[in-house]
Formats: sequence, C-alpha cells, structure tokens
Amino acid sequence: MKIGVFDSGKGGTVILDEIKKVLPDEEYRYIADSENCPYGDKSYAKLIRITSDIVDDLRNWGAKIIVIACNTATTKCIKKLRKMYPDLQFVGTEPAVRLAAKSDAKKVLVMATPGTIKSERLTMLLKENKKEGQDISLLSCPRLAETIEAGGDVNKILTKLLKGQDNYDLVVLGCTHYSLIKDDIQKFFPNAELIDGNEGVARRVAELVLKSKKIDRIV
Ligand code: DGL
Repeated sequence: MKIGVFDSGKGGTVILDEIKKVLPDEEYRYIADSENCPYGDKSYAKLIRITSDIVDDLRNWGAKIIVIACNTATTKCIKKLRKMYPDLQFVGTEPAVRLAAKSDAKKVLVMATPGTIKSERLTMLLKENKKEGQDISLLSCPRLAETIEAGGDVNKILTKLLKGQDNYDLVVLGCTHYSLIKDDIQKFFPNAELIDGNEGVARRVAELVLKSKKIDRIV
C-alpha cells in the first residue's frame, strides 16, 4: 500500500522509521517541506494551504494513507484536511499527553512549537486526560524546530529555554524535530523520562493497513 508521510523537514523521519519497523513492505513517499519550515509560527490559513498542497502531491502519487508526521500540522489542520479529502485516511501526530497522564509522573513538561502550544486541540487533550493532582506545564519553544532543521546550535536555545526548568519527572517532546535531539534535551533533565508519541503513530498506521487489506480480500 502507498503511504505518504510529511513534515516541515526532517523531524518526521523519526515517525517514518517507526512505521517502517512495523510495516517494512509498504511503499513510502516522504515529503520534507523544509522550504516552509517552521510550521510553528504560521497562521491557520497559511498552514492549510501548505499542507493541502502536500496532500494533493501525495494523493496524485497514489497514497491511500497520509501520515502527518508533525504535531503542529496535526493539532491545527487534521480536522479540516479530513473534511477536504474524505477519500483518504489520515493519521496524525499529537503531543503524548495521554501517555503522560497515564504515567505516575507528578510534574510533567510539554515542549512544543508556539503553534501547537496555542492550539485548541492541545487544550482539549489536556482537559480530557489530565489526572487530579498532576501538574502539567506547557513550554512554547520558538526557533527550536528551525534550528534543528538547519543543523544550528541547539544548545544555545535550549539553555535559554530550559535553564532552571529541571524539576520535572516527565518531559513530553511535542514536536517531531525534538526527538532528533533527545540526548541534548535529556542533559537538561537528568532525572526525567523523555517521551514522544512516535510508536503510537506507527501502531495506528499498521491497524489501518491491516484493516484495509482484510477489506480488499473480502471484496
Ligand atoms: N516537526 C514539527 C512538529 O512536530 C514542526 C516544527 C515546525 O515546523 O515548527 O511540530
């Protein structure tokens, strides 16, 4: 089956790698839209234009499943894209707030792009999942994704963002680019567990692929 995957650059490759681990035999096309990186500071209207152009390309190639390997594009655009393309199946990537809420962590930090932090979807995820007594803080990280994309000095930005922020027991990496610098981020949180939702995205894609193959066989 043809599966299209995209992000504002190389962040989404971490998702693609996870999907390939569970579905090594499917056909993939990955679009790294670094030209429009960062997505995190773009307006809703602009992001819809950008992401729908990419979805058009992937659909023309023959993709049946589109994986939005980007938290920002998912939290802001997936609802609209599903309406615009009812013939396609979409799988999105969201900050792993559900996983964080299920854990025993008392103090949680969610790091994400400004767009994701401000999104209604993240507010909703927190409202639906946060446990009583659990403290979940949000940290908007402007310029971090594009610095990672450009191969720039992430430590400088991390020091500014994370100085004095070390008293967390769980940190959610709410942007796929951040998974690429997990080790650098871990240094600022020596006692915290760092998590992302990448495996969950791969599991969801596998479920959809298996389901549609069964349906094909029956038809
Ligand atoms: N990798 C993206 C995410 O997961 C987008 C980063 C950006 O372009 O701002 O949010």
